[in-house]
Amino acid sequence: MFGRVKSLDAILATAKKKSLHRSLGAFQLTMLGIGAVIGTGIFVLTAEAAQKAGPGMMVSFVIAGLVCAFAALCYSELSSMVPVAGSAYTYTYAVLGEVLAWTVGWSLVLEYALGASAVAVGWSHHFVGLLHDFAHIDIPKAIANAPNDGGVINLPAVVIAMLVTWLLVIGTTESARVNSVLVMVKLSALALFLVLALPVMHAEKFHPFMPTGMTGVAGAAASIFFAYVGFDAVSTAAEETINPQRNVPIGLIGSLIFCTIIYILVAAGAIGSIGAQPVTAIGGALLDPGSMALTQRCNEIVAGGAKLPMTCSHEALVTVMQQTGHLQVGNLLALAATIALPSVILMMMYGQTRVAFVMARDGLFPAAFAKVHPRYKTPYVITIATGMFALVFAGFLPVGKLADLSNAGTLYAFACVAIAVMVLRRTDPDRVRSFRTPAVYVIGPLAIIGCVYLYFSLPLFTKTFFPAWGLIGLVVYFGYSRSRSHVGRGIDDSLDDVPPVIAAGHEV
Ligand code: ALA
Repeated sequence: MFGRVKSLDAILATAKKKSLHRSLGAFQLTMLGIGAVIGTGIFVLTAEAAQKAGPGMMVSFVIAGLVCAFAALCYSELSSMVPVAGSAYTYTYAVLGEVLAWTVGWSLVLEYALGASAVAVGWSHHFVGLLHDFAHIDIPKAIANAPNDGGVINLPAVVIAMLVTWLLVIGTTESARVNSVLVMVKLSALALFLVLALPVMHAEKFHPFMPTGMTGVAGAAASIFFAYVGFDAVSTAAEETINPQRNVPIGLIGSLIFCTIIYILVAAGAIGSIGAQPVTAIGGALLDPGSMALTQRCNEIVAGGAKLPMTCSHEALVTVMQQTGHLQVGNLLALAATIALPSVILMMMYGQTRVAFVMARDGLFPAAFAKVHPRYKTPYVITIATGMFALVFAGFLPVGKLADLSNAGTLYAFACVAIAVMVLRRTDPDRVRSFRTPAVYVIGPLAIIGCVYLYFSLPLFTKTFFPAWGLIGLVVYFGYSRSRSHVGRGIDDSLDDVPPVIAAGHEV
């Protein structure tokens, strides 16, 4: 059952023949990474993390960042050896076999497509907030919130997911250029936040530091992990990278270190300026983020004349600015998020389309998925399918749930990559590794333990949904994909005379 392995040489030969255009350098890759990473996590989920852990969320940011760093070191070795678009899916295929590779590809759907949905919802909150605060236009709650978030459908989130899908269909060339500008907008907004929030910090706001203990900190780490998700999207662009052996590790680790520093500073600024203690029920019971009970309690607090606690906010950083007396900066921040978060949605969807493209190239998804648009030269079928999937979830689930589900898929993929890198050191020790994971037998197990720890710190709903999703995946695999697999049918993709499938160049 685990015997079907796609040889590394075959993968590299296929990629060479049917390859995507190589145009990205180290700088563009790092920008791509930062573009994919900084988003809803820091702008929105900071509030949820604070509700779970209070000021202790700073520790959560460190834990989640560490797990990502371990995983990034494993990714770097594999992606520099196998610079193809399929990322974790492809590495698993080469090392651990087709069944596990399929489960990774299937999990990546959660990571990328639901990740895109989560960011779309985060965008929607900022857009609606901006319209309210700046233009005094109120979008009815019913059409701007998911059903268990006090609404019926989140229409702005659906619309932005549609717009991004369209952007990807008409060509990533424009999209990547736009991405660079948007990264700058996002970074300027966070820099402004830090300049204004850090000087007004008060030490007492950090006490009590861990009001919910280590359980709260772990729960917050599992959720805020989402803030780091996306750096691995850099590795999905490996096939479009010039000199991937050097540039992919720089892009991966560079964007991760940069984001970790920014996050810890921003979290400190938010806690130290307006406080981040969890909101509790009248009796003192802790309330779950994203629950109706918390929403009601928050409404009561505001109705009683108090300021909205940061943990109640759907736009955490904007709220911090508003409550430190910088109303216009708050609006600017909301504007920056409104302008820039679509770049994160774009990267998430981009990652999904590239992984699915490779899975279709391997015969595990229908060949039609890999169809390239005659005019735009983009894999438009899979792009539109991804967009539809993402927009349905964006319309009907709250941001925290979507982020948690995305995290579950990501943690699974990360753990498989960590296993693959160690197995490959044993099975193919002589292959040239231009980047070697340092102390791989320490870093690899740490990455796996970290992923397992964060997975089990996720909410029960997520822990239940993920295995169910995996089960559906296995039914699809054994019912459809297994018999059509190119490896299974002995088709050598590198030798067939099918015209090369070229997706659009990813130029900046
Ligand atoms: N890390 C990305 C975000 O926080 C997905 O939006």
